[in-house]
Amino acid sequence: MNTKVLEIDKDNIDKGSIIEAANMIRAGKLVAFPTETVYGLGADGLNKTAVKGIFQAKGRPQDNPLILHIHSIEQIFPLVKEIPELTYECMKKFWPGPLTILFKKSELVPDIITAGLDTVAIRMPDHPIAVELLRESNTPIAAPSANLSGKPSPTNAEHVIEDLTGKVDMIIDGGDTGVGLESTVLDVSGNCPMILRPGGVTLEDLREIIPDIIQDLGTIKEDEKIVPKSPGQKYRHYAPKADMFVYTGKIDSIVDKIKEQANLLIKEGKKVGIMATEETKDNYIQGTVLVVGSRENKNTIATNLFKTIRLFDDNNVDVILAEGVETDHIGTAIMNRMMKASSGKIKKI
Ligand code: TXA
Ligand code: MG
Repeated sequence: MNTKVLEIDKDNIDKGSIIEAANMIRAGKLVAFPTETVYGLGADGLNKTAVKGIFQAKGRPQDNPLILHIHSIEQIFPLVKEIPELTYECMKKFWPGPLTILFKKSELVPDIITAGLDTVAIRMPDHPIAVELLRESNTPIAAPSANLSGKPSPTNAEHVIEDLTGKVDMIIDGGDTGVGLESTVLDVSGNCPMILRPGGVTLEDLREIIPDIIQDLGTIKEDEKIVPKSPGQKYRHYAPKADMFVYTGKIDSIVDKIKEQANLLIKEGKKVGIMATEETKDNYIQGTVLVVGSRENKNTIATNLFKTIRLFDDNNVDVILAEGVETDHIGTAIMNRMMKASSGKIKKI
């Protein structure tokens, strides 16, 4: 398959390019596009054949449901059975933005989207290119992250080009995404409002509307035996080629431990990568040291995490030693992704 790469400036959107991409969506083709979280691999969410193509291109397991993206509240009514009051409040407060909400699905939503579940995940992205594409396509767009299954989610078009060239019809290059981690997945459909995947909208943000909201333990526990409510959470994900270890605790102890480990591994002949932060980088004198962001502003770590993991792969390191962060605000989502990238190899120092 020939993959067309189409550059669009998000601050000065070329209407003709959007029409070209939207025509692809309407014709049942696959179009990767930027959102404020990560790049998505889009197809017409009401076209079963097109949606099937998403699973094939990514090598995604069929039992992992997809998110439908919309640009206006009106688009949601035909897709869902009801909108409970609490759900409506979350939509009003956090949309457009990095929050995906589960709804009881209507007959219109194909089973392939929901992997047979009776709920459908919906989100309204906050990115001008995504919004224009949705508006012009005039259909809900199904879009998982635009990476090959198991790899880190793409935060720029180069990542998508690397993973999906020859497998999709079009890749829109709209520059770097902002948040860097995928949306929060929220289930308010039962009696027990729950975060199924931590993301850009945090537990603290959601508590303002839902004081008793809880975080599904399956998304943060290391125990492989816990069956998460969100099917995607059970798969190995975001994995670098290298073996990754994450250290948490007091920052001085983390730094000492990473230096000690790096020294040992290098003596064994291993190529070591160190995922450092602005505040700690000067402590490391061995290995391939990459700065992921600043501990003072964890959003910068979220923005760069997946890119940094991919960069370690480009550097062919054997082992990645990473500094963990505190699990408050966006830190929960960062540690959730680090936990998965390292297959649960998180050590408290
Ligand atoms: O930020 C994002 O959410 C990005 C951008 C492109 O919008 N998309 C994304 O999609 O991360 P994906 O497919 O990589 O992750 C969707 C997650 C999976 O963990 C999936 O299992 C969960 O949402 N999910 C989807 N529908 C669900 C449902 N009905 N019930 C429970 N979990 C669901
Ligand atoms: Mg994904």
